[in-house]
Parts: sequence; C-alpha cells; structure tokens
Amino acid sequence: MGSERRRLWTGTSPSGNPFALPRGPLGPLAGLLMARGNRRQNAEVLAHCEVSPEDDVLEVGHGPGVLLGLLAERARTVTGVDPSPQMVRMALRRNFAAVRAGRVRLRVGSAEHTGAPEASTDLVVSVNTVAMWPRLDPAVDELHRVLRPGGRLVLSWHLSPARFALAPEEREEVRGALARRFGSADTRDLRHGAVFVAQR
Ligand SMILES: C[S@@+](CC[C@H](N)C(=O)[O-])C[C@H]1O[C@@H](n2cnc3c(N)ncnc32)[C@H](O)[C@@H]1O
Repeated sequence: MGSERRRLWTGTSPSGNPFALPRGPLGPLAGLLMARGNRRQNAEVLAHCEVSPEDDVLEVGHGPGVLLGLLAERARTVTGVDPSPQMVRMALRRNFAAVRAGRVRLRVGSAEHTGAPEASTDLVVSVNTVAMWPRLDPAVDELHRVLRPGGRLVLSWHLSPARFALAPEEREEVRGALARRFGSADTRDLRHGAVFVAQR
C-alpha cells in the first residue's frame, strides 16, 4: 500500500478497522483470522529473535496471543500489552496455563505506553503493529526506554498481500526512526514479513 493511498503516523489511532484495533462485534472474528493468517509470520519472527531462557520479553500488540505462547516456551518471562481489551482477553484464554504459572503477564497498553519499568526488558517484539502506531518517535522512545542495555527490538510487518506491504519510503521512515534513537537499525525481508532490528 503506497503512501499516496495511506498516510501513516499522523497522530491518529486506527478506528473502524477491526484488524488494526479489534473491538465491537467484529473484534473477536478479526482475532481468530489474525491467529490463523499471521501464524507463519509469527513463527518466522520467533526464529529471528533467538530468545534465550534468561530473557524477559515484552510483546507489543500481541493480538490473539499466538506469538506470546511461543515466547513463553522459551523465555524467562513474557509480558504482553495490547490496546484492545478484547485481544487481552483472547490472549489470556489462549495462554491461560502460562498466565496461571506466572510466566506470562498481560495488560492493556500500547507501543507508546507499555507500562513497563525502565530497563526491564531484554527483548521487545512487535508484529504487524508499527503501521498502527499514531506516531513513530514517541513509540520508539518508549520501547528504547524499557530495554536493558544490549537489549533488542524486533519489529515485523506483512510483506503480502502486496497492498498491505510498507511502501519503500514508509519502510525507510521506520528504519530511520529506530536509527535516530538506537544509533543504528537494520531492515530486511524474511519470507512473510519485513523485519526491523535495533539494539540498545
Ligand atoms: C494486525 S493486529 C496484529 C496482531 C498480532 N501481533 C499478529 O501478528 O497477529 C494489530 C494489533 O496491534 C494492536 N495495536 C493497535 N494500535 C497499537 C499501538 N499503538 N500499539 C501497540 N499495539 C497496537 C491492535 O490492538 C492489534 O491487536
């Protein structure tokens, strides 16, 4: 989707699109479709993250919670935040055993307001949310704030269908925002998503 058809990071939150901010009667259906449709992309991101058993991980915009479950099998702790209360409830149901065991914590939050303490996280990961952030810089500042020195930020955004992919200038905007805050940032195409990586 080119920027001539979509203007991102203009300060407005997504509204009316149940995939961008699941709510209302279509929210749960959007969650089920995302769980199925984004499963391979989430698995690809997990492989790219190289999670270790000592890692405290924050997933931002977890949606239905598929990646949360995969992270919980590998990390020390996993915290998930999503601005959609419907998605927090869906992720809770999907990961009930890990939540009950204290390995996964969930709450309403966003990329701009995670509620996580400063320097509390080894890995921040977020899949298919960056285009929904109202603005890039405040969100990037927040994710940098919660990372420990040496901690990694991994973002992924759909490559297909092509109309959902970031336009080249949008992609450079994301990479540039990360590089301004972290000092450097990489982006590359994996099979299912464009991935952005930065290290604090
Ligand atoms: C397309 S879904 C992706 C869900 C999941 N990560 C996946 O890949 O299946 C987008 C998610 O981002 C969340 N979201 C919307 N605005 C956000 C923001 N500003 N910060 C973090 N997450 C946001 C939505 O509530 C929704 O759960």
